[in-house]
Amino acid sequence: MEIKNNYLEKVITLDGPAGSGKSTIAKMLAKEMGYYHIDSGAIYRAYTYAVIKKIGYLNSPEEFGDVFLKEKINPEQFSLQVYFENDTQIIKLDTEILNEQLRTRELTERIKYIADNISYRYKVNQILRDLAVRYPVIVDGRDMGTEVFPESRYKFYIDASIEVRAKRRYEEYIQNYKKNHIDIEEIKKEIQKRDEQDKNRKIGALKIPEDAIIIDTSNLTRNMVLNLLLTYLQKKF
Ligand code: DC
Repeated sequence: MEIKNNYLEKVITLDGPAGSGKSTIAKMLAKEMGYYHIDSGAIYRAYTYAVIKKIGYLNSPEEFGDVFLKEKINPEQFSLQVYFENDTQIIKLDTEILNEQLRTRELTERIKYIADNISYRYKVNQILRDLAVRYPVIVDGRDMGTEVFPESRYKFYIDASIEVRAKRRYEEYIQNYKKNHIDIEEIKKEIQKRDEQDKNRKIGALKIPEDAIIIDTSNLTRNMVLNLLLTYLQKKF
């Protein structure tokens, strides 16, 4: 019990929708405070990657979802490790370190089936809590302040308008993949679809924690958001 109370002193949660900038801010905040950043979405992505490796992409996300359920693919069968190296979160599947391969649109379209599944949610939450017991962490996701660390003292909800979020994702795609034939309206629709899935998930849905500080980053620079968070944290510490 004592450990539990102690470790919650060192957990800062950042929840919010896709493209709100929470991962970028969480990374900056962790660096500033000497904490470790955990990207919980990346762990859901990694399990999705593991399932894709096992059953393939199939013809559509729906078919992928059907086969995933029919074959009852359990997370325990995958050897996924999450740890820190030089202050950075590393996710390893067997011997493969996962990075950019987790960020494709094809994978993103298939995450829903893994994120909706109780066995995977249970497994991811266990990984997150194990890390939080051992390290001071800033953890970003959808249900960090509500489901995984409801007793954490420091909770933020990071939001932005749909237009700004779509623009940020568009710029990310152009920069990372050097593609310029992506339609921003299409990205906007993808984000709206994911918002709906994230908000309506039966367990682990995206919700604003009751005791969270809400920050709309639409008209703020990264540094402005970082300073705002630091100001709130200094008041609380
Ligand atoms: O943050 P992200 O876009 O990388 O997250 C990818 C997906 O993972 C997101 O659409 C839903 C799922 N996810 C979740 O269900 N719970 C979390 N705490 C984090 C992510």
